[in-house]
Amino acid sequence: MSTSSNLVVEKFYEQYKSAARLFYSPGRINLIGEHIDYNAGFVLPAAIDKGIWYAVAPNGTNSARFYSVDLDEHLEISLDNIHPIDGWQNYVLGVIDQAQQRGLIIKGFDCAFGGNIPIGSGLSSSAAVECGLLTALNEVFSLGLDRKTIALMGQKAEHTFPKVMCGIMDQYANMMGKMNHVILLDCLTIEHRYLPLSLEEYSIILINTKVHHSLASGEYNVRRQQCEQGLKTLQSFYPDAKTFRDITPEQVQEHESDLGGDIFKRCLYVTQEIARTQKAALLCEANNLEGLGKLMYETHEGLSKLYDVSCPELDFLVEQARKYPEIIGSRVMGGGFGGCTINLIRKEHWNTIVETITTEYKSTFDIDAEVYEVATSDGTYEAIGG
Ligand code: GLA
Repeated sequence: MSTSSNLVVEKFYEQYKSAARLFYSPGRINLIGEHIDYNAGFVLPAAIDKGIWYAVAPNGTNSARFYSVDLDEHLEISLDNIHPIDGWQNYVLGVIDQAQQRGLIIKGFDCAFGGNIPIGSGLSSSAAVECGLLTALNEVFSLGLDRKTIALMGQKAEHTFPKVMCGIMDQYANMMGKMNHVILLDCLTIEHRYLPLSLEEYSIILINTKVHHSLASGEYNVRRQQCEQGLKTLQSFYPDAKTFRDITPEQVQEHESDLGGDIFKRCLYVTQEIARTQKAALLCEANNLEGLGKLMYETHEGLSKLYDVSCPELDFLVEQARKYPEIIGSRVMGGGFGGCTINLIRKEHWNTIVETITTEYKSTFDIDAEVYEVATSDGTYEAIGG
């Protein structure tokens, strides 16, 4: 799937016979800090140059009309009757609902959208859909929302319509991204700092297993519940601990039998990853990419063995990556259960190495992996009018 801005504008005109305003809403990568945005941790995401284009214009009616260019599907719905509808529809309707819940006035509008974020691949197409639409509506109807509020409303929309109890990372990266920077986001205070990302002789390469996950399938929400349960148990021993940030991996280890099997593993991972991400931020600031890469490999171990959100295809790609000193870091990215690995690879070798890995992958799983070289981008913005 690769829909360009021109195609979105063209399709908008074809469908609705009027001009529109055009917005770019990026996907995201995350260098490190996985599954800890909902556990009071830190994350290091960035918006990227793969995203969704939105063409939006008021239509003078009381209905919203959507056209998904990628799927060639339509939706027309009265603004008096916004309710969940399974599929991509939930992601756009959820944000309209959020706006209405806040008493914001949204009038009828037409919208065409499409882009080049592979869906269900850990690059957060869902946050791009949510925050892209909300930004467009904010501009078109002068709603007066600031970027952080849009991110928070996008997250809430995901909780209430598709019912994925996600953290704030994806929506925040989508709105706050800054080209050539990663965002060091403190998910407890929801405050951030930008760290310059100077890759120099390295590239960020994503390898898509093409194994599709659906976070909505429930496993994501199960992880979240397990963490909540684990934290409660730990708080009974450490009553001063408000969040996982106040608990060390050693303390978790002391209570292995109180926590029990899976919950113990989840809590150990979370506390380790919180510490790891703080270290990673310092290394990133010092531009020590080799150090950061080592921590990425450690994160993969944790996500695979303790948090159980990897799969044989992802583990295979990371195992292959380990064979090459040129790949200084590799791990599953995003929610997991499939999707992409993120790899830090020496520029001059990446093509041949990645080709060898994807050939091995094909002969093992009979799947053609996809490979993307990504660059960082600014957060959602308005482009030229259509
Ligand atoms: C998904 C969620 C995020 C985050 C990641 C895992 O992308 O939307 O909030 O929890 O998984 O780090």
